Amino acid sequence: VNVLLSADEIRQGVDRLAQQINRDYAGKHLVLIGVLTGSLILLADLIRQLNMPLRVELVQARSYRGAATTAGQLTLQLEGLPELSGEEILLIDDIYDTGQTLAALVEELQRRASRAVRSAVLLRKLGRQEASIEPDYVAFEIPDKFVVGYGMDHADRYRNLPYIAVLDESDLKEPSA
Ligand code: IMP
Ligand code: MG
Repeated sequence: VNVLLSADEIRQGVDRLAQQINRDYAGKHLVLIGVLTGSLILLADLIRQLNMPLRVELVQARSYRGAATTAGQLTLQLEGLPELSGEEILLIDDIYDTGQTLAALVEELQRRASRAVRSAVLLRKLGRQEASIEPDYVAFEIPDKFVVGYGMDHADRYRNLPYIAVLDESDLKEPSA
């Protein structure tokens, strides 16, 4: 693994995101919706820096299957979300890659809220976009490499790394049992 963003750099990026969100939503009631599992650590770090009245909700999205680094069929789990009609919603995800995940979630949440839904991501991978939706807040733009750490996994490993690293080719093989 080689480090792309150190824990310190990530902290600065999250600080910038928090400042922008605090400025744009000052005094407004916000519903933050985190996309499990990858946004777990970003969400925890971000919400502790936000100062408007807010509520936190979670959804799950899966598109990666096993050790594959290309997206498979996207499945969304939105059970357990409260009534969102009229709410100001900010969706939080780890990375915008093709954009299919955010596009599908934003569309469904806009339907439920009957109003525009915005999104914030830590990373945006350049050169991969397929969806027409743009994330509203982006902390870092990164090259088209498969990254892990700070919540992001490969085959459910590496989420606990405090930094973000690019996986080597040799790490991309199915881990042997
Ligand atoms: P998208 O739908 O193609 O934008 O994919 C977004 C989802 O795929 C993110 O929420 C991540 O969970 C996952 N993903 C995309 N690229 C990476 C990566 O480089 N490392 C780990 N997960 C990734
Ligand atoms: Mg994800």
